[in-house]
Amino acid sequence: MQHNVLILDFGSQYTQLIARRVRELNIFCEIYPFNHFPDDLSSFKAVILSGSPFSVRADDAPHPDLSQIRGKKPLLAVCYGAQYLAHFNGGEVAPSNIREYGRANLTYIKDDEIFFDEVALHSQVWMSHSDTIKKLPSNGVKLASTKDVENAAYRIEGETTYAIQFHPEVYHSTDGKQILENFLVKIAKVEQSFTPNAFVEDCISELREKVKDDKVVLGLSGGVDSTVAAVLLNKAIGKNLYCIFVNNGLLRKNEFENVLHQYKDMGLNVKGVDASDRFLSALDGIEDPEKKRKTIGRVFIEVFDDEAHKIEDVKWLAQGTIYPDVIESVSVKGPSATIKSHHNVGGLPDYMKLQIVEPLRMLFKDEVRRVGRTLGIDDELLGRHPFPGPGLSIRILGAITQEKVQILQEVDAVFINGLKEHGLYDKVWQAGAILLPVNSVGVMGDERTYEKVVALRAVESTDGMTADWVHLPYDFLMKISNEIINKVKGVNRVVYDISSKPPATIEWE
Ligand code: XMP
Repeated sequence: MQHNVLILDFGSQYTQLIARRVRELNIFCEIYPFNHFPDDLSSFKAVILSGSPFSVRADDAPHPDLSQIRGKKPLLAVCYGAQYLAHFNGGEVAPSNIREYGRANLTYIKDDEIFFDEVALHSQVWMSHSDTIKKLPSNGVKLASTKDVENAAYRIEGETTYAIQFHPEVYHSTDGKQILENFLVKIAKVEQSFTPNAFVEDCISELREKVKDDKVVLGLSGGVDSTVAAVLLNKAIGKNLYCIFVNNGLLRKNEFENVLHQYKDMGLNVKGVDASDRFLSALDGIEDPEKKRKTIGRVFIEVFDDEAHKIEDVKWLAQGTIYPDVIESVSVKGPSATIKSHHNVGGLPDYMKLQIVEPLRMLFKDEVRRVGRTLGIDDELLGRHPFPGPGLSIRILGAITQEKVQILQEVDAVFINGLKEHGLYDKVWQAGAILLPVNSVGVMGDERTYEKVVALRAVESTDGMTADWVHLPYDFLMKISNEIINKVKGVNRVVYDISSKPPATIEWE
């Protein structure tokens, strides 16, 4: 059984970052909303309270009952958490006279405190709050200050309770990870045993215990998550895993054949189903992006359902759900407003009556990749750019035809292969081409042309939530533009998308 750390989320934008830093220390942790955490806390070795956009002084601010935690488990309270502990325990929290936002340096650190082991005076920390702790709570011992923040860190005498007003999880806090390690490892004595190897071992034995001799069906997409989930299940239950890889006709050029081949080489029991015609005829004449997504989602379920029914006695549906999807759905502020419906998040309809198994539901994306590496999955497959479920359909603006799909596949192949050949692919988070519903005038030889315009898009991002356009070298863009116009019939103009997200999104539809 892994040692586990509980992170109580008060709605801070940085809560997931706390979890990631803790995981980087090879310590398992789980995030729960402050108002919905388990009654039985016996499996948690330590607790961390996150920051929050609220002021503790506001009536509607999170005020959870910490009686099962405070004084009973090692506790680290960050920012709002630190103010919360102070406010309700004899301290004083008040609006700050000056802006306490951004970089600061520790001008005082109390001697001989394990909490600040290996943290030097003047170490940089990241502040982000408008309230400040004017007076420490009862039995509070000041541990550190900055120029503007007297009570930057404190502990409670007689308890393993620590509190800091800065954010150790943010990279700008230079020794933030050291402080987390001091608290979790040296003070709370949490084991650093959550490694990819340990995960694989535990996961395989849990999967065996859970599904026993039952059959499991899984939809492979060519992406990292479904692939890693499949390889784990394959190791656990072998031929009882039935993978289905559907060609919706909107994949990249030769993707279906290549990836199917790779899957077979990996020893997966996989069936490739070419349903391109079914998808394309269902999409005929549809221009609205959301209708495209819904149509593809519906046809995918129909095709998958048909195939799953051919597997006699299948009991389980495996999915490559990862941790950000799980915590998003229980976040303090509720799921964010739908800007685009991502059809693969909803899952399959109830009538399929399958039980769900999600081996990766506790992992972040980078952890999935590390687990994939441990499992010996090819780096090329693990490093692939994200690709939307509705595929090229949402990169062909307006109605979709077979001819447009072919044009876009060719353009996309030139761009993606070019990125690989020039060593740029791994520097980019996601790239692709968009076929615009516009014709433009050009001249080729002595002839006037009136053909399609394509846009190229390449972005840097960590999670797709925000993104910056990549400053690809002009020489590279020139080569790619020439190659596209020379090679792909029907295209006479190439433009490059220089919009960031927000306010634009990554996909055009
Ligand atoms: P946007 O366009 O919302 O994209 O900035 C963010 C990330 O999500 C991908 N994306 C999708 N993925 N189904 C998916 O599986 C979809 O309908 C979908 N729409 C966008 C997009 O490629 C980017 O990685």
